[in-house]
This record gives sequence, structure tokens and C-alpha cells, in this order.
Amino acid sequence: MGLKHQTCKSSSSPSNFLRIRFSTILTLVLLFTSLFLFLSSLKNTQGPIFRGDESALFNAVFSKTWPVGADPGGMERHASTLYQALAAKGHEIHVFTVPSDRRPHWDIHEGNLHVYFAANDHGSVNCSLAFEIFNKVNSDGAFDYVHTESVSLPYWRAKMVPNVAVTWHGIWYEIMHSKLLQQLLTDPNGHNREPMTELHEAMPKLVEEIRFFKSYKQHICISNSAGEVLLNIYQIPQRNVHVILNGVDETEYAPDPEAGARFREKHGVPANVSLVMGVAGRLVRDKGHPLLYKAFSSIVKRYPSLFLLVAGSGPWRRRYAELGPNVKVLGALEPLELSEFYNALDVFVNPTLRPQGLDLTLIEAMQSGKPVLTPNYPSIVGTVVVDEEFGYTFSPNVKSFVEALESAIRDGPNVLKRKGMACKNYVLSMFTATKMASAYERFFLCMKNPKYCQYPLPTDCGL
Ligand SMILES: *[C@@H]1O[C@H](CO)[C@@H](O)[C@H](O)[C@H]1NC(C)=O
Ligand SMILES: *[C@@H]1O[C@H](CO)[C@@H](O)[C@H](O)[C@H]1NC(C)=O
Repeated sequence: MGLKHQTCKSSSSPSNFLRIRFSTILTLVLLFTSLFLFLSSLKNTQGPIFRGDESALFNAVFSKTWPVGADPGGMERHASTLYQALAAKGHEIHVFTVPSDRRPHWDIHEGNLHVYFAANDHGSVNCSLAFEIFNKVNSDGAFDYVHTESVSLPYWRAKMVPNVAVTWHGIWYEIMHSKLLQQLLTDPNGHNREPMTELHEAMPKLVEEIRFFKSYKQHICISNSAGEVLLNIYQIPQRNVHVILNGVDETEYAPDPEAGARFREKHGVPANVSLVMGVAGRLVRDKGHPLLYKAFSSIVKRYPSLFLLVAGSGPWRRRYAELGPNVKVLGALEPLELSEFYNALDVFVNPTLRPQGLDLTLIEAMQSGKPVLTPNYPSIVGTVVVDEEFGYTFSPNVKSFVEALESAIRDGPNVLKRKGMACKNYVLSMFTATKMASAYERFFLCMKNPKYCQYPLPTDCGL
């Protein structure tokens, strides 16, 4: 299965995982951290706490959107997790962004967290407007650090802003990989004579991306494999490449068998099924639904007591409904329902065809004590499903997927339960929101003044 063990373990300070699903456009999040408060929260810092000008650490973070409403596995939800966690630690966070529902909303000022909405007519970020607000806040006390979620702060602007760190949630090298897999899946034998336009356009985009990445100084990525690509393919100096893993709110997802049983009953899962599988997220092609659809329709003929719960909305909803009584489509779920949903499963399936970034849902399911069945991408097997004990991996084609499903069915609910507990312990040691927030804290502090770097930095793991 091509699994490997991760060498990096959280030591004195935990490594953190920032997970924000990044689609394509811009996110503006400004993060300002007060160094004074920041220092007081660092347990290992010796000596007197700074006061005065030198102590003011401000980080500006640019991010695409801010979550409004339900959005399973969303990058927005992740952004809010991180910045709320930092604000709760006493840092002043200013976020420049737009609401995820693209409707007008008031700015948010909750304690140390300030969210400014700067939308244009279409509901995406108006960069000029965001910068007007940014400059106004900046004039009250300059930012020490600017953090952008992907290209939310475009590179031509990033060049003009001092001290920029960027978090990449997916890079073109990975997207190219993704397009390659989709091509192979839709046309395995090369019968289709249509031009492979997307594949032809991918390489020039990669070249362009490699060229503009140097406009950003510090690069944070969310998997060990992306860090290696930045180093080896994008030629970013090692000292400027950092891995901070995604974090999921550990209080939101936890094992709760009773909630799971109630959820099954409420949604009419028959009591005599042998195995309940679940999938969550947007029901679109590149999330691998054609793959799951084909694999499940083939395997359910041989194992009629299999059941599939589908959480999320999107065009593939209707196709799943065609599969008959062994499938239940639930629509989009609120975060609380999502937690019950994970608990209702024996195994969580993530058939994604996008090797870029990391799906939040994988980590949420594992926190809920569920094993996962997922493709063997470098970002996944190098960072999340690093051991066979955590579930099943497959190559993104129907045959390999069906084989992995059969392994899970053969293992049965008891083995799956044991694997699920192993998952829970692993993700709690690696992927919590708390760990992510403190890794970001440490990162910004260290970038501001090397005096505060404690080596090895938690962000340096895996490289
Ligand atoms: C963006 O903001 C600027 C400055 O406030 C404004 O002049 C411009 O019309 C806005 N653009 C759009 C497309 O909303
Ligand atoms: C489960 O029970 C229902 C009705 O009680 C029955 O129709 C169905 O065939 C059973 N399924 C299996 C897999 O035994």
C-alpha cells in the first residue's frame, strides 16, 4: 500500500496542522499578534517580558473567505478555527476577507478578533478596498508580519509588503498530478480523441507559479510532501520552507457511539446492515464521486448488506440516489450533525481525485475514532494515513478502490473499531487546532526575532 512512517513527532512544542481548503481565488485574512500577550503564553520563554515598541508583533494574514453557515471540510472553517484560537490566546487578530455566502454582512469584532469584509460586486475580495482598510489599521501600529492564505495577497502586492509569509493549501505541482489522475480515470484506454486541454495548460501554469513563488519570503505548507516539492522542484531555500500541519477543533469531533446509533436510526439505516460507509463534502467530480459511484455499485451486488451514507450537496447527489436502498443521501450537514454522522460510520471513505492540500474531513473522521479509506497520495500517506493501522489506501482507479473496500469488508466492524481508536490517538497527537495555533504563534515570533526561535522549531518537522 505504499505507506510510510512519518519521522517527525511533536516534541517539546507540538507541531500543528493548518488545514484550509483552498479552491482558486483569494482570501484576505489579516492576523495581528501582540507580542506581549504572545510571550506571556510561551511557557519556555526565559527572562523578562518585553514591553514597549519592540514587543508589538503584528501579523497580517490574507485569506479567501470567512465561513458563514455549514460547509463540511471547508477551508473557511479552518481559517476561522486558527484565527479564533490565536485570538483566544490573547493575540489581536485582524482578518481581511469576504463572507463565504457572498452576501453582505457586518464586520465582526469579538474580543481580539476583528474581521473586515471587503467584497466587490461579485462577492469576492476587493483587494484595493482590503488594502485601504489594511493601511488604516497599519497606520495605528505597523504590522510586523503579513500572512496570506495562498495567493489571497497577490504576488505583485506581496512584493511591496515587508515580512510576508504564505500558507499554501495546494500547489500547481499537486494540481497537475490531480489532472493527470482524472484524465487516466475518465479515459483509461485512450479511446477518447478529445484534446487534453487542461493537461496541456497545466505545465505553463506550473512554470509561472514557480517563477512568482519567490515574491513571497516564507512558505508554509500543510504536508511533508508539499514541503519536499517546494524544496526540490520550486527551488525555495530550505530555511524558508516550513510545514505546519492542519488542525481540527478537538472539542468538536470525538467518539460518541450513542450519537452514532441515534443518527443511524434517525436516517433510517436498517439494523441488519453489516457495514456502514460514509463520504462527506461537496458532491462534485474532482472529489472522486465518479470513482466511488462505480466502485460502490459494483461491490454492493456482491455484498448486499453494505450501506453508504452521503453527506453533502452537489451534482452527484442524484446519481447516488439512483443506487437504491443501500445508499442514503443526507444533503449538507451542520457541524454538530457532521460529528454525529462520523460516529454513525464503520469506515469513512474519501475518494478524492485532488492530491493537493489535505481534506479536513479525513482528520475529522479520525478524531471521531473512525478508520479511513482513501487514495495513496503523497500528501496523505506521508502525513495522515502514515500507518496501515489507520485504514486502507488505494490507487485512484476503480479496481484498486474495490480491492481496498473488500479489505475493509473482510476486516469487519471489530477490526475497524480498533483501527479507529488508533486513528484517534494519532490525530490527537498531531492535528489539533491548539497545536496548529501554537505552531503558528511560534513561527511568527521566531520570524520576528531569532532570539525566540527554539530549535528544532515545530514548523521544521519533516524537512
Ligand atoms: C473596489 O474598491 C475600490 C476602493 O474602495 C473601489 O473604488 C472599487 O470600485 C471597488 N471595485 C469593485 C469591483 O467593487
Ligand atoms: C434487512 O431487513 C429488511 C427488512 O427487514 C430486508 O428486506 C432486507 O433484505 C434485509 N437485508 C439484508 C442484507 O439482510
